[in-house]
Amino acid sequence: MQPAPPPSGYDQALRPQFHFTSRTNWINDPNGLVYYKGTYHLFFQHNPDGNEWGNMTWGHAESTDLVHWKQVSNALTPDDLGTMFSGSAVIDWHNTAGFNKGKNPSMLLFYTAAGGTSPESTGKPFTQCLAYSTDGGATFTKYAENPIIPEIAGGNRDPKVVWDQAGKRWLLALYLDGDNFELLQSTDLRHWHKLQTVSLPGCDECPDLFPMIARPSGHRYWVMTAANGHYVVGQMVDGKFVFQGEPVVSDYGPNFYAVQTWSDIYRSDGRRIQIAWMRGGQYPGMPFNGQMSFPCVLKLHDGAKGLWMSRWPVREISSLYAGTEEWRDLALANGVPITVQPKTGLWDISLKVKCEAGAAFTITVNGHAVTFSSSNKTLSCMNSTAPIRLPQGYLTLRVLADVTSLEVYGNTGRVSLTGCVLPVAGAPGITVESTGGDAQILSMTAHSLRSAWSTAH
Ligand code: FRU
Repeated sequence: MQPAPPPSGYDQALRPQFHFTSRTNWINDPNGLVYYKGTYHLFFQHNPDGNEWGNMTWGHAESTDLVHWKQVSNALTPDDLGTMFSGSAVIDWHNTAGFNKGKNPSMLLFYTAAGGTSPESTGKPFTQCLAYSTDGGATFTKYAENPIIPEIAGGNRDPKVVWDQAGKRWLLALYLDGDNFELLQSTDLRHWHKLQTVSLPGCDECPDLFPMIARPSGHRYWVMTAANGHYVVGQMVDGKFVFQGEPVVSDYGPNFYAVQTWSDIYRSDGRRIQIAWMRGGQYPGMPFNGQMSFPCVLKLHDGAKGLWMSRWPVREISSLYAGTEEWRDLALANGVPITVQPKTGLWDISLKVKCEAGAAFTITVNGHAVTFSSSNKTLSCMNSTAPIRLPQGYLTLRVLADVTSLEVYGNTGRVSLTGCVLPVAGAPGITVESTGGDAQILSMTAHSLRSAWSTAH
């Protein structure tokens, strides 16, 4: 079945069809991710005037399902304190900052005014500022007393705010310099006081901080991530954070950066949903530059082998399913590839594979190979490699393939690889092969997807 073509403006050869891109021009970090009354808000670093980084402005898109996005007016534009660098958003349900109007809680944006990055802000430092909306994110007013946090260290940036229910206070994580971050606290979102500094070796920029309940134990933890997605897990001791060990890699792909999770998703939903900017992608000749990763649910696990976090695409992707093919017990003889789907497309593919000792299994999607090596215990694609174990004795793999990206999840999200690709001319859609031994595909399901732009843009 041929899905309907994407609408004009979103139909170019290299336009991702189920990953967010701006209609035109440059994007980088996701900013201000917040859910409010049925709408997921996605703000983003944006150059409204060009296809390269610059004139940092907060672009804005909205979605009711994390899949179909509609780009709306830009939310924050440069002013005399600087251009608008990354930050976060919260809903002030209890009017702690005092901006609420009537019964409507305000939406607050926390951002870095990057002094010195525009002629109007020459000589000014990077400071942290606040803007609020009393109409559900349609329009924003910058706080008259900005900045709310003066420079702490040169280049400090990317404030991420979260409510600490146990401590009845707001927390703000800020990138300082080197691998240092500062955590601050507040009761009114306008006045902030230092709580502690945290060093995350190998990490910088765009911190995120959020509480999570680990399964199966039910224990409560806090997770802190940096721009590269690496994370540490910790607990609050006497009101301060104690994180355990060195940061852990969360995604091994080549283009996973500036991660952030949505704030204020209702407790009845309970998901912690993360998105990343796919830094480093190439879109030659396109009117846009940059795409976001597909939103993933994070889960914290605390089995016998310690604490770890998984990433798994949000279930709402199923709204794009256009057709489904299934295979069972497909035997792969050593060195004999099978093309199960000749035509390239947009795919959500899930499979379970059992490999003979020493065999390497490869699934090639739209010309992009994903290889599991049973001898090296690795999963490789896009020139990147992740370690992987097979606790169940077989490999589970999920692959999301868009026109210019590939997202691979091993062991139901225990490892993931996120990356940008370019179409391979003449490649078949899906080929499977085993080398160095036989393999058996226990089951495989391939959903072809329709364009997410066809219903909202
Ligand atoms: C991360 C980053 C942030 C900064 C923003 C500027 O990609 O460098 O630290 O706020 O991009 O666009």
